[in-house]
Amino acid sequence: MDVFRVKGNGPLSGTIEVGGAKNAALPLLAACLLTKETVRLTRVPDLSDIRFMVEILRHVGAKIENPEPGTWEINAAQLSHIAPYELVRKMRASICLLGPLVARLRRAEVSIPGGCVIGPRPIDLHLKGLKKLHCDVRIEHGYVFIDAEDMRGSVVFLGGRNGSTVTGTANILMAATLAPGTTRIECAACEPEIVDLCKLLTKMGACIEGIGSPELVVQGVEELHGCEHPVIADRIEAGTFIAAAAITNGNVLVKGIAPNLLGAFLDKLEEAGVPIEPEADGLRVLPHNGKLRPVDCITLPYPGFPTDLQAQFCALMACTDGISIITERIYPNRFMHVPELQRMGADIAIEGPSAIVKGPCKFSGAPVMASDLRASAALILAAMAANDETWIQRIYHLDRGYEHFEHKLAALGAKIERLDDSEMPHELYQE
Ligand code: EPZ
Repeated sequence: MDVFRVKGNGPLSGTIEVGGAKNAALPLLAACLLTKETVRLTRVPDLSDIRFMVEILRHVGAKIENPEPGTWEINAAQLSHIAPYELVRKMRASICLLGPLVARLRRAEVSIPGGCVIGPRPIDLHLKGLKKLHCDVRIEHGYVFIDAEDMRGSVVFLGGRNGSTVTGTANILMAATLAPGTTRIECAACEPEIVDLCKLLTKMGACIEGIGSPELVVQGVEELHGCEHPVIADRIEAGTFIAAAAITNGNVLVKGIAPNLLGAFLDKLEEAGVPIEPEADGLRVLPHNGKLRPVDCITLPYPGFPTDLQAQFCALMACTDGISIITERIYPNRFMHVPELQRMGADIAIEGPSAIVKGPCKFSGAPVMASDLRASAALILAAMAANDETWIQRIYHLDRGYEHFEHKLAALGAKIERLDDSEMPHELYQE
């Protein structure tokens, strides 16, 4: 398996272009099943999760071409209603097939995705929404069986104990586009990735009002048609690069991201004393020269502070002079990065859903283990701020959601290389 060797190499500098968003591309790919015509998606990031979603779509019958890097053409004229366990279990986002299969075929058999290290990943709200659309929902042997012969529009409330559900909103939205009558989704997720999905569906002929708001109104239509659509920029990748620039006291232009997609994150960075200037086509992070301040934050649904930037923010706050309290309201156990950051010298205590981060910490290199996508990114940020060498194992987690991450960071001056784990010093290797 691959490992990263990272050596602290001072401030990052240069320009980095943000790619298409993983968390937009996955539901967009699923939405291509809603029509018999070809949908062409561009700016699709080159990620293992994307390749995996393509494999699942092919399994259910879609014909898929990849004429050039970043461009995928999907034609789902032929479609079967079964998404099997051996595929679905590997990636949670494959649950996004539910809505399109129900909409197109009026039935679906989709394996229930397992949990993951960041916590339980329930789908009760997805199923509640489908039942409200008059679908018959049955769970047996780890599969969800949907009979949607009587599906029709209704009022669906998608709020759960931790706010709305992003992929749940995607599923109900996609099902509603072809459901007779009017569907009103209340407490819909407002994430930019849902806005991007609404834009694609509208191009395909769907009738959606309230785009970007917590109340979506969908008029069902007979069928949808093909189109072309570019994937929205990845706000989480952009935020990760901004944090990388800040943690190394660097000067970096993060291109291709609109500030409004990162509102709460930028607000907290400003509070922490990270100088960030908007430029024509992105955001420039400027050196803070040691003036970072501790900041408290709470993760919330968009437009609140994104849970997918919490681990990266933890690593940054460890470098400030004082105490920061970082509270996780979306996935209360999402602190797998903490023990590994502690191995690198961070002083972080977990109290329930909060991490109490005491700084300043001068990270020191150590052999660490990636555990999930965003925790892996946090370890790399800390390694770049350390004054010596860090080995990071299980970086396949990172490859799920960051495209060519080590190349992009190396282009900014980071000393990071991908090696085979056999090249890791034996005494550092952890089984
Ligand atoms: C999406 O996951 C993202 N993944 C996640 O990004 C992101 O962390 C999450 O939204 C929150 O923003 C994709 O878009 C592929 P949710 P999703 O349903 O849709 C609870 C990453 O690192 N809930 O919005 O699965 C749930 O337990 C990944 O890129 C229910 O209770 O998340 C959580 O507490 C990680 N019942 C909260 O809602 C349900 O039926 C938000 O979950 C569904 C969710």
